[in-house]
Parts: sequence; C-alpha cells; structure tokens
Amino acid sequence: MSNVESNLEDIQKVAKINAGKNLKYSILTMGCQLNENDSEKLSGMIEKMQYTKTEDLSKADLIVFNTCCVRENAEDKLFGKLGEVKKYKEEKGTIIAIGGCMMQEKHIVEKLKESYPFFDIVFGTHTLHQFPSNLYSILTNNKRIEDILDIDGEIIEGLPIKRDDTVKASVTIMNGCNNFCSYCIVPYVRGRERSRLPKDILLEVNKLAEEGYKEITLLGQNVNSYLRVEKENNVSFEEYEGVNSFATLLRAINKIDGIERIRFVSPHPKDFTQDVIEAIRDCDKVCKLIHLPLQSGSTNMLKLMNRKYSKEQYLDLVKKMKNEIPNVTFSTDIIVGFAGETQEDFEDTLEVVKEVKFEQVYMFIYSRRVGTPGDRMENQVPDEVKHERFEKLKQLVEKQIEERNKQYVGTIQKVLVEGKSKNNDQMLTGRTDSNKVVVLEGPENLIGKIEDLKIVSEHMWYLKGQLK
Ligand code: 5AD
Ligand code: SF4
Repeated sequence: MSNVESNLEDIQKVAKINAGKNLKYSILTMGCQLNENDSEKLSGMIEKMQYTKTEDLSKADLIVFNTCCVRENAEDKLFGKLGEVKKYKEEKGTIIAIGGCMMQEKHIVEKLKESYPFFDIVFGTHTLHQFPSNLYSILTNNKRIEDILDIDGEIIEGLPIKRDDTVKASVTIMNGCNNFCSYCIVPYVRGRERSRLPKDILLEVNKLAEEGYKEITLLGQNVNSYLRVEKENNVSFEEYEGVNSFATLLRAINKIDGIERIRFVSPHPKDFTQDVIEAIRDCDKVCKLIHLPLQSGSTNMLKLMNRKYSKEQYLDLVKKMKNEIPNVTFSTDIIVGFAGETQEDFEDTLEVVKEVKFEQVYMFIYSRRVGTPGDRMENQVPDEVKHERFEKLKQLVEKQIEERNKQYVGTIQKVLVEGKSKNNDQMLTGRTDSNKVVVLEGPENLIGKIEDLKIVSEHMWYLKGQLK
C-alpha cells in the first residue's frame, strides 16, 4: 500500500472512532511559512478525523504544537505553552501532540520526557503523514509515541489540506537544505534538499486556480536551486510542460489562468542564475519584490557564515537585477551578532542596508543553536553588544521604511484585496506587488480582486488606499 493510501485508511479508522462526539482541536503554529504549510496539512488530516477547530485551548480535545527551532525564543515559547496545557491534560485528558523541526533535536525530546512527560505524541518533520496512524494508536491503547526519523523522509503527495486563506496559498516546492550556513539548524532538522516533481506542483497550482486562489507563494529553504541536486546527482525525474528548473517552473505557473500573482521564498543569492532573473523579468505575474537574504554585509562574516558570496557579489547581484528587471525591489533577512562580528563588520551591514534601500528587513539577533558550527566558534558576541547593534539596525531600517512609505503617497498601486482588516472589520486589507499592506474602505466583493488604489497616507506598517 502506498504511504498516502495507508494515511487515508488511518484517517477513516480514527474518523469512525470519533464520529458524533463533537470533538475539537487546536493547532499552534510556531514557525516559518513552511511550518505553516505543514500545519495546513495537519489540519486537513485532523478535520477529516472529525475534529473542528477552536482557538480556545481549554475546549480542545486534541492540541497540536507545530514547533520551530531556528532561534531560542521558539523553544521558550513551546515550554511556556506546555506548562499552560498541562492542566487540561490532567483535568480532561486532552491529547497533546508535539511535532515540527524542534522534535528533530534529540536534546529537546529528552528534555520533554524529563520535564513535560505528559505529552502523547512527538513527531518530526519526516513523519507528518503518519499522524493519523499515531493518533489511532493513542486512541486505542494510549501508549506514548515517538515517531521521529533521522533519515530524509520521502515527499508524500496527496495528503488532505485545510488552507487558512481563500485568496493566497502556499505551495512547497522543495524540502530540506544542503547549504549548511554555519549559524543555521535547518539542514540538521529538515534533511537534504529534495524537490517535488514538476507535475505534482503544477497540478496543485492548477487546482488552486480552479478553487479561486489568486496568489501563490512557492516555498522552500532554497527555492532557486529547485531540481539542482537531482540534476547534479543524475537522479532522473520526469519533466512536465517543459519544467526542469526554477526558471522554467516560474514560466509554467505564469501561464496558469486564474493565478494573478506569484511570489517565492527564500532564494539564496549564490544560486540566482541569469535564467531566473530573465524569468522574473518576463513573467507578468511574478511579483517584482524579491526576498534576497543578506544575513550580513561583511565579507568576513559571510565567509564565517558559509554563505558563499561577498558583500560586493551581493551588491553586484542587486545592481544587475535593478538594471534588468523594471521596478524590482528587495526585502531581506539580517542576523546581527554572529560569532566574531566586529563593529567594523556590523558597519558593513549598515552600509549595504543604506545602499540597497530594502522594502522590508527581517532582523534577527544571532541565537546559538546546538550542533551547528556557529555554536562551537570562539569570539561569541556578548548579549548587550548584540542588542545594541540590533537597536541601531532597527532605527536605520525604520527610518528608511518611513522615507520609502512617503514615496508611495499619491501613487496608484495595484492591490490584491485579501480580506477584512483584522483590527477594524469595517475596512479591507490587501497588498501591493511590493508586499506593502494597504487598508481601504470598500465593498466586500472586492476580496480576491486586484484593484488600482490611490495611496492617500502612510503609517509605519501599512499604507492607506482609496478606490480610484
Ligand atoms: N539565529 C538568528 N537568526 C537565524 N536565522 C537562521 N538561523 C538563525 C540563528 N541561529 C534567520 C536567518 C534566516 C531566517 C529564516 O532566520 O536570517 O534567513
Ligand atoms: Fe539555513 Fe542557510 Fe539553508 Fe537558509 S540556506 S535554511 S539559512 S542553512
């Protein structure tokens, strides 16, 4: 039996046990967009097993934690929440399942067993599809389960999925990472790079288009090396509609009727080949905001981080893209305080930020991760220095964003209206091509449409727009 068939069979078995019981579940998603996409698959399976969603943990019969381990604060968050749900386990026997990246770290699972032994299931990143079978075991013999694989799991197609949004959808195109940046835990918890087949991706996007989705975000730890490892290792794969690389994938998705916007995260600057730049330029649906993780603006730090590009190469790439792609803009990720970072290195980062003028900068304080080369390096930067540098970078970024926002006022922007504003349900909210949030007044039937809006005012984290 294939993995997906046994998954569907286990779902049926649990659904039979749960039928008519009016059971509820909560899911806490603690990580990146890939983690969110995994949560959508977990929710898809769980809802087919007769649970309905609740945000109120005290009402849930099943609580699932989908964890992240990229930075230490994700750990603190999990342990805090586990302390909170312990009472529900004791009072009403709530099933507690903990999955995701953090569960691939042995020392964390040990800590859970020692300090939070009341959990029912732990599962890792390679065994998502076995969740129904694990839940069935818990419901029938109530013995704690650890379902974690150290080897790279195969990509399972055809799992149920319950998407959080009706306008925008994420599609994972590859799993894992081979880059081993020295600060990063991801290659150890998500395994080696493996790409989904072109046909599976295109069928999924076609289905999303039929369901009315307008914006697709292609996800992977290193999207622009899609199918590269397969080609390097002579693994044969079937081309579909001419797709055999990231550039050809963008071109094929660009042809799908109904899809109006395509985004992708995250590419690696070292893999930004000419064919990808040309595909972005040529494909009208590919948004011209490129997320291009910098991490540091210092060539010394980039070397220590094992990023495989220098400050100059990064700036040259930005320049080349600005020359070749009309209206291109950039967002980025930056880590401050990585081991060995001097004041001079940090100033290099500030310099690149000043030069590129990013639309958005996701800023992180370096967090030591057990098992990574960065954690073993000497010259760790003291916490107070990290915080000082972080504040300095934040001030620069906020000043730049403010200036940039002012340039939007008076312009006409194409905004994909995504839904009602979370803070004020009299207003609608959407995004520009450059991913700026725009709030507007207008009828609900605009949701899912791209409208020309005049930007009338700017605020730090959003712009205000008016229908023309
Ligand atoms: N500490 C801080 N930030 C990190 N990131 C990855 N690992 C770490 C770490 N150990 C950041 C990088 C990456 C983003 C997703 O998270 O900037 O691009
Ligand atoms: Fe981590 Fe680098 Fe891989 Fe991104 S490319 S997941 S930062 S190792």
